[in-house]
Amino acid sequence: MTRLYLSNDTSARAAGAERLAQAWAHAPGVELVRTSSRGAFFLEPLVERDGPDGRPDSRIVWPNVKAEDLPNILAGIGGTPIGRIAFLAEQQRVTFANFGITGPLSLDDYRAHGGWQGLERARSLSPEAVIDELKTSKLRGRGGAAFPVWTKWQVAKDAAADQKYVVANADEGDAGTYCDRMIMEGEPFRLIEGMLICAKAIGATRGFIYCRQEYPAAARTLREAIAAAEQAGWLTHERERFHLEVFVGAGSYVCGEETALLESLEGRRGVVRAKPPYPALSGLYGKPTIVSNVLTFATVPSILARGGRWHASLGTEGSRGTMALQVGGRVKQPGLVEIPFGATLAEVIERFGGGMASGARFKAVQVGGPLGSLFPASRLDIPICYDAFSQAGAILGHGGIVVYDDETDMVELARHFMAFTADESCGKCTPCRIGSVRSREILEQLQSGHSRPGDLDLLADLSETMKAASLCALGQRAPYPVLTAIEHFGSEFRK
Ligand SMILES: Cc1cc2nc3c(=O)[nH]c(=O)nc-3n(C[C@H](O)[C@H](O)[C@H](O)COP(=O)(O)O)c2cc1C
Repeated sequence: MTRLYLSNDTSARAAGAERLAQAWAHAPGVELVRTSSRGAFFLEPLVERDGPDGRPDSRIVWPNVKAEDLPNILAGIGGTPIGRIAFLAEQQRVTFANFGITGPLSLDDYRAHGGWQGLERARSLSPEAVIDELKTSKLRGRGGAAFPVWTKWQVAKDAAADQKYVVANADEGDAGTYCDRMIMEGEPFRLIEGMLICAKAIGATRGFIYCRQEYPAAARTLREAIAAAEQAGWLTHERERFHLEVFVGAGSYVCGEETALLESLEGRRGVVRAKPPYPALSGLYGKPTIVSNVLTFATVPSILARGGRWHASLGTEGSRGTMALQVGGRVKQPGLVEIPFGATLAEVIERFGGGMASGARFKAVQVGGPLGSLFPASRLDIPICYDAFSQAGAILGHGGIVVYDDETDMVELARHFMAFTADESCGKCTPCRIGSVRSREILEQLQSGHSRPGDLDLLADLSETMKAASLCALGQRAPYPVLTAIEHFGSEFRK
């Protein structure tokens, strides 16, 4: 029997992994093992075989495989040692270290690759000591706001309450981002472990994973993983059981905003709440609640297992650790790139993205989803870290990097993003609800050749109001893609 490894991740399946699995289901001499994904989506469907010593890092891989390639793979013809795939070899993976190697629902695999070590250590420590480790690590939330994780945990821990909650924000609404999905589909136990460590630190006994409805495979995998972890005893400690449930959203971008998410979780329309009070003090049903991003929770187990100091030794002054960047758009090599903070945008696009796709010429890159700023070629020297981005009036967000080529119509792109906000605004505050519609209309008039003199000034004015007076970051950030498009590609708006 020859064991072949094939990813079961949604992106790999979309790229043809499922067709291979069906074609080879009864192939003689083949044992097909479904794994998580390496995130090298330009190589999918990617088939792997054990190398000479059987170690995961010496596997032999075949990229972009078709069903008829099976005889060659079985004969060992044409494969490449995984270590020679520069896209993967040059990354420094921590959270995604096991991706492509382990079976998503195998507790044995998870354990064998370092799983539960962080939780075991956390359970041997006091809540204060766990929070101290997070403080030393300097971990900041990966969901967008980049808030220090330990501060929220401290507030929730210190709050006196009969019930506290841990909520994983798995709404992952930013276009071009998918690392949360990869974690949920590929190593769900890592998310569960991170949530259990948080529960132990703050004294919570209930948890929810708020999963966007567009991720049915993730929700399914999570439910199976929770059941398996529960059966194996991981959810119970010192007779206290942590009740963990998956809640599927209803397809709304603003429900990724933590307070709208809590409204939705409570069964109401996803409308933003005024802050303060912050959820750490008054969250789900008014109780202390940690709402954190999936990637944030998934980073926590390694911090507990390897120590906060180790985490703080990676990255830059204000941005410690690694970041899971998701490089997409018109590049040669779209995929997941986990590296320490500090590389420049140019390095990421060239070295990992492989430069522009065949025949395409660079025009702009947007970082941080639909609320993120656009950068032209002259700004690609910016280091990927929270401080440099905030000084540039930009956001790193959830690490989405979408590259546009020179055929992109910037007025249409700007209109598209403003129309997105107009559609997704929860409607609670006027600057966002009305401002986004009026801004979209101005851009539409510009497109149709019916704009009036002063319209761009009016747009700038409206943008300032939205930035200053909106209730949440949806309205506050919505003008940025439009304003940066005008700043860097102004001639297209002034025809
Ligand atoms: C419009 C909007 C959408 C958001 N969507 C998400 C999301 O999909 N996932 C996420 O983790 N955070 C999202 N956030 C940020 C959350 O409000 C919150 O800051 C985050 O969940 C906190 O987690 P962290 O501390 O781990 O970053 C969004 C914020 C806004 C304003």
